[in-house]
Amino acid sequence: MERGGAMRILVIGGGGREHALCWKLAASPRVKQIYCVPGNPGIADLAECVRLDSSDHEALYQFAAQMAIDLTVVGPELPLVNGIVDYFAARGLKVFGPSQAAAQIEGSKSFAKSLMQKYNIPTANFAVFTNMAAAKDYIRRQGAPIVIKADGLAAGKGVVVAMTENEALAAIDLIMRDRAFGSAGSQVVIEEFMTGEEASLLAFTDGYTVVPMAAAQDHKRIFDNDQGPNTGGMGAYAPAPVVTEAIRERVVREILQPTVDAMRAEGCLYKGCLYAGLMITAEGPKVVEFNARFGDPETQVVLPLLDTDLAAVMEACVDGKLAGLEVKWKKQAAVSVVLAAGGYPGSYQTGHTITGLENAAKMGAIVFHAGTAERGDEIVTNGGRVLAVTAIAADVAAAVRKAYGAIPEIKFEGMQYRKDIGAKAINRK
Ligand code: AMP
Ligand code: GLY
Repeated sequence: MERGGAMRILVIGGGGREHALCWKLAASPRVKQIYCVPGNPGIADLAECVRLDSSDHEALYQFAAQMAIDLTVVGPELPLVNGIVDYFAARGLKVFGPSQAAAQIEGSKSFAKSLMQKYNIPTANFAVFTNMAAAKDYIRRQGAPIVIKADGLAAGKGVVVAMTENEALAAIDLIMRDRAFGSAGSQVVIEEFMTGEEASLLAFTDGYTVVPMAAAQDHKRIFDNDQGPNTGGMGAYAPAPVVTEAIRERVVREILQPTVDAMRAEGCLYKGCLYAGLMITAEGPKVVEFNARFGDPETQVVLPLLDTDLAAVMEACVDGKLAGLEVKWKKQAAVSVVLAAGGYPGSYQTGHTITGLENAAKMGAIVFHAGTAERGDEIVTNGGRVLAVTAIAADVAAAVRKAYGAIPEIKFEGMQYRKDIGAKAINRK
């Protein structure tokens, strides 16, 4: 699949976020060829999918060197936290993403919280514990509601928002005693409960300059009206009107820029995409969490609005030249609705035939694959989040109509999705 440009790109990951990354990179006039490890059947339309173990840095490096890859883009957090950027950079290869030291901002919640405390970056008050009894005493003193977080990576789980003291104490048992999230639970962060509307503001950075993207809003709960258990994200839209121009400026001035400056001051220059998960509280925006990578499904709505060559932006981040680049955004909106397997986020089946993908595309939707596989000449379900049906239009309401208009074309056994993605943006107006 050769294209017009000169760059050869390797994307690591195989979900909806990586499909969106490949889709945007494929539109770059600079890009000649894209490889993706491991990729998925949707990505296979744009890139050559390569079966390698994405946790094997040496195997990935050998592949990148052999294929003369000009730029590697890392989707998920795990390879970042395990130091893939350092491994490639030490061998002379360019990678978009933070170093292992910088990725601690996601890999260790206590690291992120201490950094914010030291540099006065607004976030919930907190305390860190390695001792169960001390953690429980603190909860009894503070009372509920209160938030308990396993310190390390827990695949998007590991956070308990406890509405009662008993729930909070049970969360300590679950995380620290039963090790429900493994070694991520050897230390916990206990946080003040914040109220407000949540939003995500992702930014490109070269370690100095910060370029914010369009603000997005994820929908984490499985059911409409934010009911039911948390998921990896059931849909997103951008731009999110809760992030007004004034709030966006505050987030850059009070959160994103100070964080990038703080990381540099601490000796861990942060390059790549910095994801700020925010609570827009009565006192202003505060950090819920940082991620060291693009969000999923935020990427599926943010990248379609980017009006500048993504490969050029990523190269500028790696080369420390972001200040010299004008990054433009389309004055449109994007909505992405996740089609999930029946039973998700609990146990679910895989291997169900998916039909109607081409018809949905004919209706104007971009169907990003999240958890799919090929079986003969069929596409089948292969994960909890299966597809992200995305639409771009003049505003959120029009994008909602376009995305939901295409969804009835798609069918697989057990398919479930939220009917209210984007509703908060529409109701606000
Ligand atoms: P996280 O994995 O850190 O994004 O947390 C998962 C979810 O828990 C967030 O999206 C919030 O809805 C909620 N949450 C996390 N921290 C807090 C907090 N301090 N106050 C209120 N809600 C929180
Ligand atoms: N959408 C939440 C995340 O990517 O962590």
